[in-house]
Amino acid sequence: MVNKKQIILKYNRPGPRYTSYPPANFFKSEFNNNNFITQIEESNNVGQKNISIYIHIPFCSQRCHFCGCNTTLFENETLVSKYVDCLIKEIHSVTKHINTQAREVTQIHWGGGTPNSIQHKHIERVMNELKTLFKIKNNAEIAIECNPAYIDNDQILFLRKMGFNRISIGIQDFNTKILDCVNRLRSKLPHNELIKMVREAGFTGVNYDFIYGLPGQTVESFNETIKQAIELSPDRLVTFSYAHVPWATMSQQKNLEKIGLPSPEEKLSMFLSSMDLIVQSGYIQIGLDHYAKPNDDLSKALLNKRLHRNFQGYCTKETTGQVYGFGSSSISQLWGGFSQNEKTLIKYIERIENEELAVERGYSLSFNEQVCKEVIDEIMCNGVLNFDEVGNIFLISALKVKEIICYNNEKFKEFVDDNLLEITNNKLIVSKSGMLVVRNIAMALDPQLNTEGDKYSKTI
Ligand SMILES: C[S@@+](CC[C@H](N)C(=O)[O-])C[C@H]1O[C@@H](n2cnc3c(N)ncnc32)[C@H](O)[C@@H]1O
Ligand code: SF4
Repeated sequence: MVNKKQIILKYNRPGPRYTSYPPANFFKSEFNNNNFITQIEESNNVGQKNISIYIHIPFCSQRCHFCGCNTTLFENETLVSKYVDCLIKEIHSVTKHINTQAREVTQIHWGGGTPNSIQHKHIERVMNELKTLFKIKNNAEIAIECNPAYIDNDQILFLRKMGFNRISIGIQDFNTKILDCVNRLRSKLPHNELIKMVREAGFTGVNYDFIYGLPGQTVESFNETIKQAIELSPDRLVTFSYAHVPWATMSQQKNLEKIGLPSPEEKLSMFLSSMDLIVQSGYIQIGLDHYAKPNDDLSKALLNKRLHRNFQGYCTKETTGQVYGFGSSSISQLWGGFSQNEKTLIKYIERIENEELAVERGYSLSFNEQVCKEVIDEIMCNGVLNFDEVGNIFLISALKVKEIICYNNEKFKEFVDDNLLEITNNKLIVSKSGMLVVRNIAMALDPQLNTEGDKYSKTI
């Protein structure tokens, strides 16, 4: 019997993370504003009817040395105001192509950067604009990513008043020595008070983000952090593996290396040991590193094979719609493909002021790629691939689906032999252990994957 550690080490090969299909490195720079408008107009008639909105706020007041996100240090308040003006202009330019009468918003997500670090008046302006332009469903999921360094009672009450009902809190580690080590601001409030206030204000979902693999962390110290999290009982938890992105944050990476990073073995032990603690305390594992309480929508969706994933994370098929992204670096995920805005703040502002839209790159999916996307999404999220069901979506036979993805039983022999995958007639079913390496199984289903070179990071 092979254990979890052996499985992960055996399949630890470079590959895409499949947060999208095809992965973002396939996006084309020829894709422009006009291609995006065509995709928006098509999205009114094909694909999911409901609308998801993503708002990107790229500002932070201090940069954490581990950060791989698209973020800018506050330069001055005028820049923030200018950015918000552009966001509103962009929302108007995109919305005029959306059939807002026939379609409802079921999900709004604010990410960054640190959306809760900007002045409340900016958040209010954008929210009021969205409420005027769109029909927002009563029980829509309205979420915001927050750094606890800025959260106080006034902010919690303000966010509730604005309609937010889910809050994702970036804890990273409860150990303040580790936070100091990576140049991260400490929480303004003690964490037990913070979560109590959030609950009392009526937020229905609380998520905690953690990172393992930071300087100073050990298996024991990370376990302590996770035990404290379990005590505080958030609805969802995520343990991100610290990702080295030296091309984006060279100086920060150097700072961390100087202090000394945990070895890959220690990192793997942190992942496995925190996973055991979280699962033993009753959370349901979603994908590799997400966890949710059994009564959480994500756990129910996993059970009913209704789990979905977009760039903002896991969600249910009922909640998520086609995603319209606003702000620098944001990605729209529509039926016809993807469109990403200018990544740098200044370019984004310049183009919105001059051209109304600021598409930097994107991708138009062919019919065959749409089929592949459905195949990869299903295996990555729900761990099941039913060829007949995929065929039904696209009005083609199961055999045709297999032909499109260049399916070949031989590619899955190793997974079957290791009890990671079961193949029955026209279905692939990933086992519980198989979900630890589901990315590798997805790679075997991806006809476009170029396995040469290592432009991708390893599975773990
Ligand atoms: C945009 S940040 C969240 C909001 C807020 N800025 C904060 O830091 O609390 C999204 C999450 O990405 C994760 N993250 C950032 N850089 C990372 C890296 N290099 N490797 C792994 N996870 C990372 C962190 O867990 C962070 O909470
Ligand atoms: S982790 Fe969050 S707060 Fe820290 S720099 Fe990145 S986006 Fe900003």
